[in-house]
Amino acid sequence: MADEQKTAKLTFGDTEVDLPLLSPTAGPDVIDIRKLYAQAGVFTYDPGFTSTASCDSTITFIDGNEGQLLHRGYPIDQLAEKSHFLEVCYLLLYGDLPNAAQLEDFEHRVTNHTMLHEQMQNFFRGFRRDAHPMAVMVGVVGAMSAFYHDSTDISDPWQREVASIRLIAKMPTIAAWAYKYHVGQPFVYPRNDLDYASNFLRMCFSVPAEDYVVNPILSRAMDRIFTLHADHEQNASTSTVRLASSSGANPFACIAAGIACLWGPAHGGANQACLEMLREIGTPDQIPKYIERAKDKNDPFRLMGFGHRVYKNHDPRAQVMKQSADEVLDLLGIEDNPTLQTAKELERIALEDDYFREKKLFPNVDFYSGIILDAMGFPQSMFTPIFAVARTVGWISQWKEQISDPQLKIGRPRQLYMGETLRDYTDVENR
Ligand code: CMC
Repeated sequence: MADEQKTAKLTFGDTEVDLPLLSPTAGPDVIDIRKLYAQAGVFTYDPGFTSTASCDSTITFIDGNEGQLLHRGYPIDQLAEKSHFLEVCYLLLYGDLPNAAQLEDFEHRVTNHTMLHEQMQNFFRGFRRDAHPMAVMVGVVGAMSAFYHDSTDISDPWQREVASIRLIAKMPTIAAWAYKYHVGQPFVYPRNDLDYASNFLRMCFSVPAEDYVVNPILSRAMDRIFTLHADHEQNASTSTVRLASSSGANPFACIAAGIACLWGPAHGGANQACLEMLREIGTPDQIPKYIERAKDKNDPFRLMGFGHRVYKNHDPRAQVMKQSADEVLDLLGIEDNPTLQTAKELERIALEDDYFREKKLFPNVDFYSGIILDAMGFPQSMFTPIFAVARTVGWISQWKEQISDPQLKIGRPRQLYMGETLRDYTDVENR
């Protein structure tokens, strides 16, 4: 016998509607309101989507109360410790961990797509030297649709696959070249004998005059940063990618839209903003002043790297990141790093403060990542591009999932209109 359909009852005035209640494999039930307007003539109102599931998905699950992040069921701390970025990419893209042959094949395919069309260098050179690397990335990734015509037909599964591999493979090259252009150094081509993270570090820090030997501990830390940022279910940039793709736009255009959204300081730009804030605070004795500012309703200042829409207990990525920060600074012999000391003290004081406890505000993934990237030698402007490199696989996996859904509809929210009602045009001399 089929399970009885659970429903939720909505009553207003004389109207009563039964709405289907959908049960996920994990997480709270979801009220299906798709037919609400047709049945009852009302819309729902949820700016910021705080109570709205925009799609069904099998990729990533977050339990914000437990501080749990699962990719295809696997906890992020296990993946960060035991797996590596390209294996996590495979998991996100195809749904399961690869066997040895599948992994080798996948790594081979990604590695063989790392070069950019040579003519694309002209795009980089068209930007001002002082352009933010995120501005360059938005432009260059969007321009990929003008170079890789053979992977823009989204109705062809093979072209979708090629576009996915191209984006994951070329994004480190694009980010590294945005950096090289910014600092006035020659572009460094990728090397296929290096792993993903080592290749990225080399493309950023190698110069023709001097060979760059990748330190395996730094490469491991870089790989872990990529792994920790790989996907995060329906966050702002992923939702942007899904919305852009719902119109049938090509994958390169959709990912460029995701990069643009990620740039903002409330999202991917928080790692840059956080390090700037820690530097501004300067020394632990200044912390109370900034804590008071963060609590002041009349001051727009917020503690960057603190708080999360979904995590209300802890961000599991932040804990791994904190441990990584200690390891990297230790390896580099950076003892008594004042920024790390300020960060740790700020975390300690904020976690004991009633304001942050009551609002359930904890350090998020961005709180310690900037310290690691800074120690590795990256300028602050590269922090968000590195986030974009890592999140590309998440965007692509969610994009592929959406495109393969036969029920795909163009995303088209409604609104609560609060403007003028119908009025007649008046000539300029009569206004
Ligand atoms: N410092 C001080 N107060 C804060 C902070 C903060 N970082 N974050 C939230 N609050 C307060 C906020 O003022 C509000 O107070 P009240 O209820 O009195 O009005 C309450 O906490 C809830 O905040 P909200 O803005 O309604 O929460 P949200 O879910 O819309 O925003 C957030 C989440 C991440 C945008 C926000 O916490 C924030 O701006 N954090 C700083 C930026 C940051 O670190 N972003 C990175 C997020 S993790 C990486 C990623 O996924 O991109």
